[in-house]
Amino acid sequence: MSKFYITEPTYLTVTEDGTLNPWGIFDNCTHLGCTFPWNNNEAQFQCPCHGSRYDAKGVVLRGPAPLPLKLAHVNVEGEYIRISPWTENDPRTGEKPWWV
Ligand code: FES
Repeated sequence: MSKFYITEPTYLTVTEDGTLNPWGIFDNCTHLGCTFPWNNNEAQFQCPCHGSRYDAKGVVLRGPAPLPLKLAHVNVEGEYIRISPWTENDPRTGEKPWWV
C-alpha cells in the first residue's frame, strides 16, 4: 500500500448547513505560490502578492493566476480528518486535474 503525504497548508471548507465539504483547497496561489487569506466580506480567497482572486471553490475570478487552486480529498474518520491527494477529474471542470 502506498502512502501519500500532503504537506501544503489546506483550507477545509463547510457548506451553508455546516457540513464539511469533501474537498480541501490548497493554500498555494497558482501564480507564484503565495499563501492567501479568505476574505469573508467578499467571499473570495484573495492573494496579497499580485491580486489574484478565487471563489470559494478555488476557481479563478481574477488573474494573474492562470489555473484553479489544487484540491484534496477530505474525509472524516472517527475523530480525525484525513486529507489525501485528489487525482480524479476536477469536479469544477469535469476534466483531468492540471496537477496530476
Ligand atoms: S502569487 Fe498570487 S497573485 Fe501572484
